[in-house]
Amino acid sequence: MLERNPVLKVTDLSAGYGDIGVLFDVSLTAWEGSVTALFGSNGAGKTTLMSAITGLIRTSTGRIELNDADISDKSAHARSTAGVALVQENKRVFRKRTVHENLILGGYRLKRSERPTSLEAAYERFPILRDKSNAKAGSLSGGQQQMLAIAQALMPGPKVLLLDEPSAGLAPIIVNELLQSIVRMKAEGMAVVLVEQLVGKALSVADHVVALQHGRVVIDADAAEVDDEKLRAAYLGARDDSAV
Ligand SMILES: Nc1ncnc2c1ncn2[C@@H]1O[C@H](COP(=O)(O)OP(=O)(O)OP(=O)(O)O)[C@@H](O)[C@H]1O
Ligand SMILES: [Mg+2]
Repeated sequence: MLERNPVLKVTDLSAGYGDIGVLFDVSLTAWEGSVTALFGSNGAGKTTLMSAITGLIRTSTGRIELNDADISDKSAHARSTAGVALVQENKRVFRKRTVHENLILGGYRLKRSERPTSLEAAYERFPILRDKSNAKAGSLSGGQQQMLAIAQALMPGPKVLLLDEPSAGLAPIIVNELLQSIVRMKAEGMAVVLVEQLVGKALSVADHVVALQHGRVVIDADAAEVDDEKLRAAYLGARDDSAV
């Protein structure tokens, strides 16, 4: 396998809500120009792991490194500034704001002089957003809103992008478009962590696979080494998308 640089390295992370443990000694790496697909049944802890990585919830133990710098003790804001971006499950864009305004808000940390380049990159990535730049985000279709949410997260130029079920509720044709945009991000060198219920779709873009069961890692392997059936069998709740 091609040697790539690790961008995000999570080691032995444990976290939960109050006294309730949800994640136990979870380790996960995302490499430059790669997709790490994160699988697990409902309630396995995928969203919790993304919240812990971005600093939205506290971790009880473990280490989170971004390009070899320990960010475990940093605030969510500082982690975002350092280059960690998250598109949350059912992420809502600012519906009453225009597409253009949403993108500017996504890149609020950028210097004014840096904005045009990032905006242009967003419109080039998702041309439909350029066509709709003056439309209210709330008037966009579900797929277009998801594209806007991703474009917004990419505005400040993150080093790692965490995508929590970006295809949820979207038509297959839009799902394929989103996957194509992920392939392009890889080519640009982005490290991506992708949570996706559609196992086959996720495997088609994944380089590495991590599967959680009850908050513990049960598979951690190169995507090429992961047997589709074994992965499906590893947890309940995965949808069979072989016909999609
Ligand atoms: N805010 C919260 N407070 C308390 N418990 C929570 C909270 N969010 C999630 N949990 C619990 O933590 C566990 C892991 O949930 P999480 O949402 O991380 O799973 P998931 O793998 O993302 O599931 P899904 O596939 O349904 O999105 C579950 O038992 C859930 O009930
Ligand atoms: Mg979830």
